[in-house]
Amino acid sequence: MKTIKVASIPGDGIGQEVVPAAEEVVKAIAALHGGLSFEFTRFPWSCEYYTETGKMMPDDGLKQLTDFDSIFLGAVGDPRVVPDHISLWGLLLTIRREFEQVINVRPAKLLNGLRSPLVNPNDFDLIVVRENSEGEYSSVGGEIYQGGDQIAIQNAIFSRKGTERAMRYAFELAKKRNKKLTSATKSNGIFHTMPFWDRIFTDVSRDYPDIETDSQHIDALAAFFVTAPHRFDVIVASNLFGDILTDLGAAIMGSVGIAPSANINVNGKYPSMFEPVHGSAPDIAGKGMANPIGQIWTAKMMLDHFGEEELGSALLATIESLLADQITTPDLGGTFSTNEVTNELIARLKKLG
Ligand code: NAD
Ligand code: IPM
Ligand code: MN
Repeated sequence: MKTIKVASIPGDGIGQEVVPAAEEVVKAIAALHGGLSFEFTRFPWSCEYYTETGKMMPDDGLKQLTDFDSIFLGAVGDPRVVPDHISLWGLLLTIRREFEQVINVRPAKLLNGLRSPLVNPNDFDLIVVRENSEGEYSSVGGEIYQGGDQIAIQNAIFSRKGTERAMRYAFELAKKRNKKLTSATKSNGIFHTMPFWDRIFTDVSRDYPDIETDSQHIDALAAFFVTAPHRFDVIVASNLFGDILTDLGAAIMGSVGIAPSANINVNGKYPSMFEPVHGSAPDIAGKGMANPIGQIWTAKMMLDHFGEEELGSALLATIESLLADQITTPDLGGTFSTNEVTNELIARLKKLG
């Protein structure tokens, strides 16, 4: 029996609803395999934990996570209780950074049975490779008082190593797919970092003569995501551009509640972390309305990560069968609850066995 040990962090808001749901789905699909099991260990780290302890996770939190095979996270953040920059830097962003999860992979595709808000979308199937360790997400800077004004300075940090690493990952992915890579830039307006980004893209592209490349300014690229998403295959983006683009990718699929993501530790030193694109959705938390598909598709990425692509594909196909029968939560126009969608999915998975 192959046992995969997963540290499960539901976090805040709907994370506490969709993580337990997705855990049940993972157990059901692993049971189809026979020789595979997932062992989830829950960690209560969240904004509630912060109000009790003054910390988002204990001092030895990272140490507690190190020996797991992966981390399965819901969402972090309850701005009514803890300011977002404190809660996120106290947990999610610290894990990404300290565990060197330098690449964030975020697919968006038109699933069978899904109604996209785009009126007449061509079939699209794209993956955003987001640089996940630096860029605009830096703690360098501060607030100063000068000339009678208050000024906040935020320095974006782009290293050649980090930029090249993200780009090479994206080129390798494009090689396995449709051999097309788009770089998200903004070198017309961002004076230092983005021309540097473009230069590195050109340098790295020389090692991949078979990959068709293009470079689009992020503003135009965002518009093309709406008007012609089928044009794209793999897109490589900086941390912030990738963040924004992937909520848009989720939206054109139909809902931010269905998009998955994987934070990949590429050097194998630490566990990778799997979490959906969406947040804790305080506006619907506790109502049983959260779409569990983002978290469940995220579990599919975790299955793929452990080489269980067959199970991953079966899971996605079963999700699509549910969508085709309009067994969906309200964000997709349905009337079903989180648990109803989950239970129906599990029932259909059991029938595959
Ligand atoms: P959000 O993604 O939580 O919500 C945006 C909108 O999408 C809301 O209307 C919400 O109801 C809806 N939505 C999100 N997930 C859904 C789902 N599964 N099913 C149905 N509807 C869904 O974004 P936000 O409002 O900007 O952020 C809320 C909190 O979450 C903040 O504290 C933010 O910092 C945090 N956040 C955390 C993560 C993370 O931990 N990975 C990601 C994004 C935002
Ligand atoms: C995401 C989230 C996070 C990010 C926030 C909560 C810090 O929006 O995972 O997309 O910006 O990376
Ligand atoms: Mn985001």
